[in-house]
Amino acid sequence: MNEPIKMAASLRDLQKHYVLKSETVKALRGISFDVPEGDYVAIMGPSGSGKSTLLNLLGCLDRPTLGSYFLGDADVAQMSDDELSEVRASKLGFVFQSYNLIPQLSVVENIEVPLYYMGQLNAESRARSTGLATMVGLGGRLGHRPAQLSGGQQQRVAIARSLVNDPYFILADEATGNLDSVTTEEILALFQRLNDEGRTIIMVTHEDEVSQHAKRVIWLKDGEVQSDQPVENRDVFTAKRIQEISNNAEVRT
Ligand SMILES: Nc1ncnc2c1ncn2[C@@H]1O[C@H](COP(=O)(O)OP(=O)(O)OP(=O)(O)O)[C@@H](O)[C@H]1O
Ligand SMILES: [Mg+2]
Repeated sequence: MNEPIKMAASLRDLQKHYVLKSETVKALRGISFDVPEGDYVAIMGPSGSGKSTLLNLLGCLDRPTLGSYFLGDADVAQMSDDELSEVRASKLGFVFQSYNLIPQLSVVENIEVPLYYMGQLNAESRARSTGLATMVGLGGRLGHRPAQLSGGQQQRVAIARSLVNDPYFILADEATGNLDSVTTEEILALFQRLNDEGRTIIMVTHEDEVSQHAKRVIWLKDGEVQSDQPVENRDVFTAKRIQEISNNAEVRT
């Protein structure tokens, strides 16, 4: 018998209303979908369609107004603020357009930040952060500060940091938005490698070239799911190409 598919995230009729003085904005009007472990999802949609609102909910930065959101087995709608912070630190990995690294900290220290917030900085942390830095091709840059790194290198630090707590999924918000096309390819190759290894990735992007690398695109419109489909003729890097990209990145490093 096959093992049942585990869900990283399950959304049912999820709604988010912003109550303003004169009106209530229904930013999300009943979103339902499941993200099985190992999926690679791109969320797209026009400005104002609800992408950031949805990302904030998925990232446990906010609670839904109505409906349910299960992260693994946990019901996010029922959590206190402290529980939400705890879940963010221990169960989720974030990658932002602006990297959000701490300027005073080195590469390895930045990667360890989530462990610090979980109160789990210990004797093994340095080995773990060094291993992750090496995995993203920054083994030769462990002591560098963010200002001494290129944009692509900083984003690779952010990706290593997103993995340090072994998250349910990586949530990426326009992760390649600040990068040129060569560096974008480098980050997408890294995402594919992580996904090939079983990591679940949910990313918001407005670029078709980026979403073509995902396995599935969820298109939002006016706070609803307009379409939710597998990517046909997905842009997949061959193993050889991933190796080439990673070698070139090391050379440029
Ligand atoms: N804090 C808020 N208070 C009131 N309304 C909000 C708030 N945040 C978002 N909205 C409204 O909710 C709707 C969805 O906004 P959201 O920011 O999620 O869109 P988006 O798809 O991320 O757009 P963009 O592509 O421009 O970033 C919009 O109508 C927006 O004006
Ligand atoms: Mg937005």
